[in-house]
Amino acid sequence: MKHLENLQSLSPGDLREILRVSSLLKRKTRLGERPSLLSNYCLAQLFEKPSLRTRLSFDVAMTQLGGTSLFFSAADVGLNGRESLADVARVITRYADILVIRAFSQSLITGFAKYAACPVINGLSDVSHPCQAVADLMTIQEAFGDIDGKTIAFVGDGNNVARSLASAAAKLGVKYVLAAPKGYEFGEDYLKMLKKTAPDFDLQILTDPREAVKRADVVYTDVWTSMGQEAEASQRQKDFAGFQVNADLMRLAPAHAKFMHCLPARRGMEVSDEVMDGKWSIAFDQAENRMHSAKGIILWLLGKSAEVT
Ligand code: CP
Ligand code: NVA
Repeated sequence: MKHLENLQSLSPGDLREILRVSSLLKRKTRLGERPSLLSNYCLAQLFEKPSLRTRLSFDVAMTQLGGTSLFFSAADVGLNGRESLADVARVITRYADILVIRAFSQSLITGFAKYAACPVINGLSDVSHPCQAVADLMTIQEAFGDIDGKTIAFVGDGNNVARSLASAAAKLGVKYVLAAPKGYEFGEDYLKMLKKTAPDFDLQILTDPREAVKRADVVYTDVWTSMGQEAEASQRQKDFAGFQVNADLMRLAPAHAKFMHCLPARRGMEVSDEVMDGKWSIAFDQAENRMHSAKGIILWLLGKSAEVT
């Protein structure tokens, strides 16, 4: 059985197939076609953290595919000690056809996948956000017509979103520059894994955002304080000073460069209004693509992607 626990579990071919199906279904949706490929299927969502895009995109994707979805918080289903993780996982995944989990710890997601009777999707953990990375590559492909050889400059925290995006980039020949303050770069274990699984990946790690954006096709950022890190917010605000993506920074990038953000954005912190709402921004196309790519992910995991032609 297939799961999407992290980006590493996808081969380049898998990722290209998910992108193909997602883009094709987006075009069909624009034409008013909503093929009922999942009539009577049920997707369950189990979240430990808040969400707008992830939760809604999977809900709407299932509705448009003719299926249904159910949402539970971790406390609703008794993951607060009422029942063991293994038993909760066994039961939910016998009822549902597919499950999305948003968790603090990646081990909750791998734990569920271990006992699951249906595919499990990582809807974000403290270390990864694979669904976001799929939508991001779809958006880059749409904006530029191709992904190969493009350069992403990620300016900000080398956290979950930055890591999954790098893992996706590594699979599809995209160059990646991370500009992060000291102490917020990718950790040694992640870098070791990248070296082993993608030895040819063109990755640069810098501390100067101005240098990082010079050759970027895409300038990307994420919040400085992620969910669960709220106690560090004031320290992080100091550490990330000088890492805001604003118009001055965007003007140092090539004229054709686009701006991306996974959202939610803290306007005035990691990104200025001028960039979020300006000519560079494709952040809301990117948000929309979470829904189209949710369809691609679900259909691929359920072994139904070949039905989309
Ligand atoms: N980008 C993203 O995952 O947004 P939510 O946290 O709102 O789901
Ligand atoms: N890094 C952010 C991403 C939100 C989609 C967080 O984990 O809060």
